[in-house]
Amino acid sequence: MVTETALRTPAEERYAEELAKLAEADDSLRPRGWTLSARAVRRFILGDTKLGIVRKFYGDDPLVDRAIVSLMSNQGLMLVGEPGTAKSMLSELLAAAISNDSALVVQGSAGTTEDHLRYGWNYALLLAEGPSERALVPSPVLTAMRMGKIVRFEEITRCPPEVQDALISILSEKALAVPELGAEQAVRAIPGFNLIGTANLRDRGVHEMSSALKRRLNFETVHPIADPAHELELVLKQLGERLGPAGVKADVGADVADILVQTFQDLRTGRTKEGTSLTRPEAVMSTAEAVNVLHAAALEAAFLDNGKLTGAHLARQIQGVIIKDEPEDGKRFKAYLDHVVKERSARSGPWRDFYQAARALRLT
Ligand SMILES: Nc1ncnc2c1ncn2[C@@H]1O[C@H](COP(=O)(O)OP(=O)(O)O)[C@@H](O)[C@H]1O
Ligand SMILES: [Mg+2]
Repeated sequence: MVTETALRTPAEERYAEELAKLAEADDSLRPRGWTLSARAVRRFILGDTKLGIVRKFYGDDPLVDRAIVSLMSNQGLMLVGEPGTAKSMLSELLAAAISNDSALVVQGSAGTTEDHLRYGWNYALLLAEGPSERALVPSPVLTAMRMGKIVRFEEITRCPPEVQDALISILSEKALAVPELGAEQAVRAIPGFNLIGTANLRDRGVHEMSSALKRRLNFETVHPIADPAHELELVLKQLGERLGPAGVKADVGADVADILVQTFQDLRTGRTKEGTSLTRPEAVMSTAEAVNVLHAAALEAAFLDNGKLTGAHLARQIQGVIIKDEPEDGKRFKAYLDHVVKERSARSGPWRDFYQAARALRLT
């Protein structure tokens, strides 16, 4: 018997209670085929204290409104940005709120074929009975069209051009021909169907997408969180979500977590709040990485130390984010330590712990 819950469940399951509350309180206009009104979808993502809905996406509320509007229109939605800016998370939340189903996903890669967008066959049945509805294996896109749901297409730009081309006709015709089932056989999308694509700007390809496909999608750029206070709130909240279910207790002071947020913001933007310019590392310094560092540091504090998170735990974990495959990054981080962190360490205890432990790392 399975007693443990899965490591990760779809958003509509994780937030089933919230979605039920929103549906119950929902008296606003619901776009055709949506399970919630546009206002309730916004509340689900941006939070509503009165209803007890937590904020899930930070830093750009107008972007969420534009995304919702775009999904009501005939255009698909395309979220582009640096890795770790919550493009996938936002697309999952939108699909969960709009369709109560975030599981219809195509994962784009160099190996994605047109069949992944259209349909395949159960060959045993195909051989036994010939082409039939029963033998057809629908793609997530086809299922979304039939059921009037949102389909998510991750990393579109990693797909070969012919796959991207197949998407154009689906988005413009809102229908998919199945010639094997008869000349006139086509699946027509019902209301509620739309597509959310994501793409990383660091991958080659966003700029090479065909203009025909670009025209069928509304592009929104998701930026890293600019406000340190928002980022701090988010990383602390996510740390709680990770440690809580695992039953791990760590004492994480806001002043220590703030070191993490500040170093990430400094290195990501190439500018400190004191006004010093820095060379930015090549490594991705996203909020997602910051949460990973804090999580690992808290685990070290809880399991290998006395449970109190210090700057030293952070310093040891940050190494794995900064030192990946670019040797220059180690030097850049060392310059940051010498020119920025050293000064801060003269004024604050947690920064001193961080500085001393970071100095002891092998950075080059
Ligand atoms: N603006 C933000 N609001 C909320 N969470 C964020 C934000 N930016 C990053 N995150 C965190 O980063 C994680 C990784 O995001 P993900 O959706 O995988 O990024 P992407 O698809 O852009 O690479 C999210 O699950 C979330 O925990
Ligand atoms: Mg992603």
